[in-house]
Amino acid sequence: MNNLTKFEPPLSAAGFLASEAFISLIVGPVGSTKTSAGIMKIAYHAAQMAKSRDGIRRSRCVWVRNTNQMLEDTSIPDFLKWFPDGQAGNFAKVQKRFIMRFSDVECEVLFRGLEDQNDVRRLLSLQISFAVLDEFREINQQIFEALQGRLGRYPDKSLVPPRPEWGNDADGLPIGGCVTDDGTSNRHIWGMTNPPDLDTFWETLLTDPPKNCDVFFQPSGLSQEADWLQYLPSEYYSNLAEGKSQEWIDVYINAQFGKSLAGKPVFSSFKQDIHVAKSPLILQASTLIIGVDAGLTPTATICQLDYQGRLLVHDSITGESMGALRFCREMLKPLLASKYGSRPQIIIIDPAAFQRAQTDERTVADIFKNEGFVVKPALTNTITARIAAVDGYLTRTVDGKPSILFDPGCTKLIMAMRSKYRYKTNTKGETDETPDKTHPWSDLADSLQYACLHADNGATFGAKRMSSRREIKPVQYAYV
Ligand SMILES: Nc1ncnc2c1ncn2[C@@H]1O[C@H](COP(=O)(O)OP(=O)(O)OP(=O)(O)O)[C@@H](O)[C@H]1O
Ligand SMILES: [Mg+2]
Repeated sequence: MNNLTKFEPPLSAAGFLASEAFISLIVGPVGSTKTSAGIMKIAYHAAQMAKSRDGIRRSRCVWVRNTNQMLEDTSIPDFLKWFPDGQAGNFAKVQKRFIMRFSDVECEVLFRGLEDQNDVRRLLSLQISFAVLDEFREINQQIFEALQGRLGRYPDKSLVPPRPEWGNDADGLPIGGCVTDDGTSNRHIWGMTNPPDLDTFWETLLTDPPKNCDVFFQPSGLSQEADWLQYLPSEYYSNLAEGKSQEWIDVYINAQFGKSLAGKPVFSSFKQDIHVAKSPLILQASTLIIGVDAGLTPTATICQLDYQGRLLVHDSITGESMGALRFCREMLKPLLASKYGSRPQIIIIDPAAFQRAQTDERTVADIFKNEGFVVKPALTNTITARIAAVDGYLTRTVDGKPSILFDPGCTKLIMAMRSKYRYKTNTKGETDETPDKTHPWSDLADSLQYACLHADNGATFGAKRMSSRREIKPVQYAYV
């Protein structure tokens, strides 16, 4: 029996199920079909394995859970629900091994808990095709990384000999072994989890994944986009939320990263699923508003207003330990030339950048001006006003949609927004009153703040402060 043909994942898990990436990871609320999709993904990849000499598509998969108890209580029963013992294959309880069989496919699935060093050693000596990490936030980074070296070792080239049509690999060796019918590598590792905590290895990997890793975030269980509710008891999430702390709800229902003990995010209104676009933002014809923070870690955030007044954050770049001139010539100008064409542009910079350094006649603003940019000082550099300008965009909506949208490629800025730009908590548990100055997070946030101050033209923090900086008299005929 092939359950794969009967299984229809919700759209929010379909990309994960069919991802061909070497690593694919899905994060979602409780009950969002993650484990079921992870189980079906075994059959999906197993069915793609090239036939061994005997005509069977053979593969071997290890299913990893942090404890044996968890394996027995949840992972194995979940698995057997989709692949019942005796129907879709056979389960050997003592060895915790399932031989999945359908049509010409045979996949050996080994269930392994990680209780002690022996378990880890045995796990890391396996010859396997695939590995699955269930609730991967509980699994150690070293195990995740070492396990990757065990993949693609089964079937080997003696079982699936190289074929002339597959050619040679990058090392000039004939392709065979753990490959699909067209000779593409068929080694994979995937994982499912509830959101990990902020400031962990997993948070960084999920936010800024390497090229060979696909990441899928499912929406909040309480949102309109939750597309798996039909599989759960009615009013599942509203009932689950009763009596729980907001912190718990945010992780297990809203699918947000768990709190960090190191501090409190400055932009607590920032929500990944609301403020980060699902696909790259489309460039508009309007002026590029480039917020620049020109300290030791020069940073620029490139934004545009769309016709509805929504602020689109396209790019955010940061140069470590390079002067403003090098940053401008080697990072900012090449990016503007390659991606933004001839759109008008304006740089908004910290007012302090207009002050001359004692050692140099030129100001930082002069450096950008000499490179051909129009440069304006931000309306203010008081931190409250700057934060309020960003918060204003985060909390306002335009036609029911957020008034600021981040391109998914702004990974570092998104990390800053989510948590890394923070009020630090000291050892006594007290929170600082001004944001922490850790690079590059504070620089990224600062550059966005300057862009927001310009884009909303002082609307958020009021005209009073503006008028103290420069005199603005109402002019009746200004727009006539
Ligand atoms: N495509 C589907 N068709 C029918 N039922 C499904 C489907 N996907 C999942 N389910 C059912 O929905 C429920 C939740 O699925 P699952 O256990 O996979 O979610 P989960 O995200 O792993 O949950 P948890 O966070 O609790 O581990 C289960 O009862 C499962 O059998
Ligand atoms: Mg699960």
